[in-house]
Amino acid sequence: MRISVIGAGYVGLVTGACLAELGHTVLCTDNDAAKIGVLESGKLPIFEPGLDTIVAKNRSEGRLSFSAQPAQAVAQGDVIFICVGTPPLPNGDADLSSIDRVAQMIAAEAKSDKLVVEKSTVPAQTGQQLKRVLEIYGRGRSVRFRVASNPEFLREGTAVGDFLHPDRIVVGVDDETAESQLREIYRPVLEQAFPCPLHNGSCPRGTRPAWLVTTINSAELIKHASNSFLAIKISYANMVADLAEKLGADIEEVMHGVGLDPRIGAHFLKPGLGFGGFCLPKDLQAFVRLAERHGIDFSMLREAERINHQRIENFVEKLRQSLWVLKGKKIGLLGLAFKANTDDIRFAPSIELVKRLQQEGVQITAYDPQAMGKIAERFPELNCIADAYEVARGADALLIVTEWPEFRDLDWKRIHDSMARPLVLDGRNLLSSEEMTALGFEYFSVGRPKAVQAIPAASV
Ligand code: UGA
Repeated sequence: MRISVIGAGYVGLVTGACLAELGHTVLCTDNDAAKIGVLESGKLPIFEPGLDTIVAKNRSEGRLSFSAQPAQAVAQGDVIFICVGTPPLPNGDADLSSIDRVAQMIAAEAKSDKLVVEKSTVPAQTGQQLKRVLEIYGRGRSVRFRVASNPEFLREGTAVGDFLHPDRIVVGVDDETAESQLREIYRPVLEQAFPCPLHNGSCPRGTRPAWLVTTINSAELIKHASNSFLAIKISYANMVADLAEKLGADIEEVMHGVGLDPRIGAHFLKPGLGFGGFCLPKDLQAFVRLAERHGIDFSMLREAERINHQRIENFVEKLRQSLWVLKGKKIGLLGLAFKANTDDIRFAPSIELVKRLQQEGVQITAYDPQAMGKIAERFPELNCIADAYEVARGADALLIVTEWPEFRDLDWKRIHDSMARPLVLDGRNLLSSEEMTALGFEYFSVGRPKAVQAIPAASV
């Protein structure tokens, strides 16, 4: 199938590269010519594990190409996936101007029938507007446009695996032709019959994904309702973690016990610094705005958002309780990305944390394995050092902000000996209380009891 992808952000790139990997011919375009230039030079503008390999392979085998000419993408694709950004407006609504612009461009440029697939996250009823724009701007031409919604459920950091081994594929369609075209595109994934570039024949999930066909409105609603539910789960875990901490219970034991109930499920119950990234925070806001416009009370989601904002303030308070005075203290940050295995800092908890610590007059040093370039664009004055040990040296406290697995493997004894005060606030529950306490750290995590320092046996 000849497919075009409009928008070369992380969703567009993963979608384009994975569809090429499944055997389709894909042209991926973006109006940011600099981004396309980077891609054409063989580099990726984002860090996403596994993506570089499949982009390089499919380019060299001629199935994947890039172009800064969106009109070329319209001409080439029978199916066009719209993957442009829908960032939040100041009032929380999703900014749909890119979708509108792309729809007008498709309507003006198309010379043959097209299936236009909405992959960007959009509020319900956007598909209806998309149809109207295609009809109005394409009027008087003998071209037929079909519209479908095909929301993505990709997590940054594991997006390639999520695309190739999904739990479900949701397609919102108006007619059977659109459904059968999409079914054909996804057939290798539905049958789990493709040479998997990630797992060398030993893919983790044996089961085939669910194929869910709905109306376009329902598919759009599924996406917002899913992300918002995940956000609620995280805020719930954070709220209970605060209580567990006061009561001396262990949130990990508690959430393990809670999650064993299949009606609840074990995932997304990890407490910490709250949810960030370019999806959960903005989708939650857009969903609330959509509900408000239709007179439905979504204050439950507002509460999840409020709890999430409070995480950073609570964390800074914990730091203040330990250090007494924050002004002038040297604080090291380990991790800046909104989660591990990505370089994305959009709406990352680190952004609010850095702002709050700067307000307090703290001297900050920071390290992240992937996100230092992006944080330097946001905070050029921030002292970033490409070495976790240097960040810790002479610090009054070290804060774990992102759960990069490599932080677990640091030589914590060496860090202990180099700090001015061996104080660690672990915002992600990455490390073991017992081990850190045994090394002599003052160690605080989220919702877990403080380990008691072992009393050495009295010598006889
Ligand atoms: C999220 C959804 O998980 C994907 O299904 C969806 O496709 C994607 O948004 C999207 O709409 O494009 P993503 O933003 O990559 O994916 O990140 P998540 O893995 O959902 O994590 C979001 C935030 O929640 C991170 O800051 C993470 O650290 C935090 N989190 C996650 C927790 O604090 N606790 C948890 O238990 C899980």
